[in-house]
Amino acid sequence: MKDRIPLIAGNWKMFKTSNEALDAAAQLAKLVSDIDTVDIMIAPPFTSLTVVSEVIRDTRIALGAQDMYWEKEGAFTGEISAPMLISAGCQYVIIGHSERRQYFGETDETVNKKIMAATASGLIPILCVGETETQRDEKKTFSVLDKQIEKGLEKLTLDEHQSLIIAYEPVWAIGSGKTATPDQVQEVHAFLRDLIEKRFGNMLAKATRILYGGSVKPDNVTELMALPDVDGALVGGASLKADSFSKIIHF
Ligand code: PGA
Repeated sequence: MKDRIPLIAGNWKMFKTSNEALDAAAQLAKLVSDIDTVDIMIAPPFTSLTVVSEVIRDTRIALGAQDMYWEKEGAFTGEISAPMLISAGCQYVIIGHSERRQYFGETDETVNKKIMAATASGLIPILCVGETETQRDEKKTFSVLDKQIEKGLEKLTLDEHQSLIIAYEPVWAIGSGKTATPDQVQEVHAFLRDLIEKRFGNMLAKATRILYGGSVKPDNVTELMALPDVDGALVGGASLKADSFSKIIHF
């Protein structure tokens, strides 16, 4: 039996105007009103955070952002800070998503700065790690993950780590319809938990939630959630429609 509360998180990426986000969040709130044993989070685009936060108030659905900058304020055109996210109603922030790494120059160093700033401000960071297809083919999966965790969490203290969530998202499984097999997922999740244990000790390793992400759908979520080291899912495409996301939440 896992004693970690599962978290099902929806990453809406660059989809939905404010009105569309409002509608989807309102529908979702109705569909999951019976849920009381699963934590739920949605991460709409920045422009919809405030309206969505209103509509999910007093529900189990929490709000997350898809990224943030590490400074609190300043002349950083186009960036958003942790205090801004908190005032918009966010509790969580996704950091180091592979699309940020791939298209927007995110590195393990910037990920680390963001993780430190998020924990310092009281946001719960969801650190995304994952290998590309080539790296997996070249048998580099574990060394890649080791480096992403090691550098991403550099200088993080035990205390700061308390709230951290990790999401394993193999890059080749994101948006591709290819899910990693249960064996592949469990193998990596156990490896990640071991890394956390080596760094932060057994208690924290046991308490840390490790989500899987990459083509999670209503028809594969049950099998994934049954794996001993899978504590939730980070869902992209299938989180955009309230009914399919609700099915995933009801795994
Ligand atoms: P996907 O995206 O579910 O569409 O594969 C997952 C993610 O990028 O977080």
